[in-house]
Amino acid sequence: MGRTSGVVEPVNESPGIVTHSSGQYRILVNKQAVILSYQGLSPISPPISRFGLSYFVGSRRMGRSYVHEKKGHVYQAPVGYYANRRAWDMAPGYETDQTPDFSRPITAECLFCHGSSAAVAEVNRLVRPDLIRGIGCERCHGDATEHSRLVNPAKLAPRSRDSVCEQCHLSGAARVVKAGRRLADFTPGEDLARYLQVFTDPDAPIRVNGHADSLATSKCRRGSGDRLWCGSCHNPHRETQVNDVCRSCHRVEHAGKVQGSNPTDCTSCHMPKGRARDGGHTVYTDHSIPRRPRAAREHTPEAVVAFFAGDVSPRDLGLAYAQLAGRYRDVKYAERAYALLRTAVGQFPGDAPLWLGLGRLLQAAGHEIEAIAAYERVLNLDPDNTDALTRLANAYESNNNRAKALPLRERLANLMP
Ligand code: HEC
Ligand code: HEC
Ligand code: HEC
Ligand code: HEC
Ligand code: HEC
Ligand code: HEC
Repeated sequence: MGRTSGVVEPVNESPGIVTHSSGQYRILVNKQAVILSYQGLSPISPPISRFGLSYFVGSRRMGRSYVHEKKGHVYQAPVGYYANRRAWDMAPGYETDQTPDFSRPITAECLFCHGSSAAVAEVNRLVRPDLIRGIGCERCHGDATEHSRLVNPAKLAPRSRDSVCEQCHLSGAARVVKAGRRLADFTPGEDLARYLQVFTDPDAPIRVNGHADSLATSKCRRGSGDRLWCGSCHNPHRETQVNDVCRSCHRVEHAGKVQGSNPTDCTSCHMPKGRARDGGHTVYTDHSIPRRPRAAREHTPEAVVAFFAGDVSPRDLGLAYAQLAGRYRDVKYAERAYALLRTAVGQFPGDAPLWLGLGRLLQAAGHEIEAIAAYERVLNLDPDNTDALTRLANAYESNNNRAKALPLRERLANLMP
């Protein structure tokens, strides 16, 4: 995890070519640098443009995303490397783009999980390149300079112990930061549920980054109280023999009866690797520890449930369905989200994320005027919200109101030169 982001070293990278409907991408590697050279396919395309891929996100165990820098800000490259195919291809989220997008910022969200410091979440839309350098010790042990002592995650109470890994390994179907909270304020030793509500799909097949929610559904975890946790099988500092961990709770020798199998390798049958539906290109280990392997299948959630105990606010559930509405483009989720968020505005009138969620739902449903009002509200509460600035500028432009759009574009340019 320490190597999950950092400065690109050309000797570790391989060249490649990606031909896509948006153009041709060549990845050139020399002693000093890795260069992305892009050429559009149409006769009127501008000449070749070049970008230095100077940072990466992803250890390359499964894959790697790349980052180019412009005027002190960092942007995602539209192509990435896939380890299992040993090939470059369009990066996740860029597969269907018809025009190449070189200006999608690397978000604070990516670096909350892949970066060195949780503080990145507050730098927000302005990610500094020096934060792209793997996960630091303090993310699991706390910061000794601020808090008097370091914590050993394994010795914490179960809820705060699990929270350490859940910061990054519990993505669920939707993650919603609670009203008035900042994820960056979480410190190891605390309960993550103070900051975050995570909604899971109880019927989900195997997924990328579904480890914590899958493990929670396993009979092993449910049947053993809180004894089984990530650290039982993964010590971040040492190799662990997982099959010995299984045998610490189970005395079974049935596997020897299955011909040709290795009876000692419990995980080969009970934690098989499957293709994750949302990963597209990669394979993940099934952490629900099933009796028999589960089949991979297409799936969209029917309804989501809160992962952490306690009351679920309409705001949090509404924002969760709004995330699903954006991901699956399904009005079913949008309608649920809208109804919930409408009831929540009375309770949280000054909550920018809530108004942003409402604005996006309204805009997607074609209610431009109401969407504009919602985005204006977000900007009154949170003037530097680049997401709201961009959406509001787009909404004005599509209404031919360039006079209103222009100052918003200027504010954006100041925030993301
Ligand atoms: C700050 C975010 C963060 C925290 C906290 C975190 N992880 Fe990770 N972990 C990651 C990321 C990102 C990767 C993917 C690394 C890659 O391949 O680029 C990863 C990879 C892993 C892997 C697979 C690859 C490997 O390095 O073996 C295991 C196992 C793992 N984490 C276990 C844990 C456990 C156990 C905890 C809690 C004690 C934990 N992680 C806490 C972000 C985090
Ligand atoms: C992904 C989370 C994670 C990261 C990052 C991490 N550790 Fe740990 N560390 C753990 C866990 C979990 C344990 C407890 C292992 C056990 O006892 O089962 C631990 C144990 C330790 C211990 C033993 C503590 C004791 O009381 O016995 C030391 C020392 C330590 N880590 C130092 C570091 C240092 C230094 C770094 C940064 C280079 C670091 N750790 C990064 C999760 C992490
Ligand atoms: C909630 C935490 C989280 C967020 C947000 C997140 N990731 Fe990840 N990412 C992970 C974890 C954990 C893994 C390890 C894969 C897994 O689940 O096994 C991973 C895996 C990856 C990998 C494959 C690395 C490898 O070789 O194993 C890449 C590349 C990657 N992420 C890039 C990104 C980018 C780019 C963003 C932002 C657009 C992002 N991630 C956002 C947690 C996160
Ligand atoms: C901390 C103790 C513990 C550990 C470690 C553990 N299990 Fe379990 N496991 C349980 C308990 C408790 C049950 C539930 C027994 C019951 O319901 O009768 C269970 C159930 C199971 C089942 C039955 C699942 C089903 O759907 O019926 C399988 C298979 C299984 N475990 C395999 C494993 C394997 C393989 C490992 C190692 C990767 C493992 N377990 C590690 C405690 C554990
Ligand atoms: C009962 C043992 C067990 C527990 C508990 C467990 N894991 Fe794993 N995990 C495994 C095995 C086995 C693999 C596959 C390792 C391999 O292929 O080398 C794995 C692989 C992974 C990987 C690599 C990606 C993948 O899917 O293959 C990540 C990330 C990971 N685990 C995270 C976690 C997190 C986070 C937790 C806690 C929520 C957790 N694991 C709990 C046994 C366990
Ligand atoms: C060759 C595949 C295979 C291997 C290897 C294997 N198992 Fe199983 N195991 C199965 C199957 C299949 C079942 C389900 C049997 C059934 O449904 O009647 C099962 C059932 C179980 C159960 C539920 C038992 C019960 O009586 O309800 C547990 C617990 C379990 N296995 C643990 C383990 C452990 C621990 C290991 C490693 C020592 C292991 N298995 C190795 C195939 C395997």
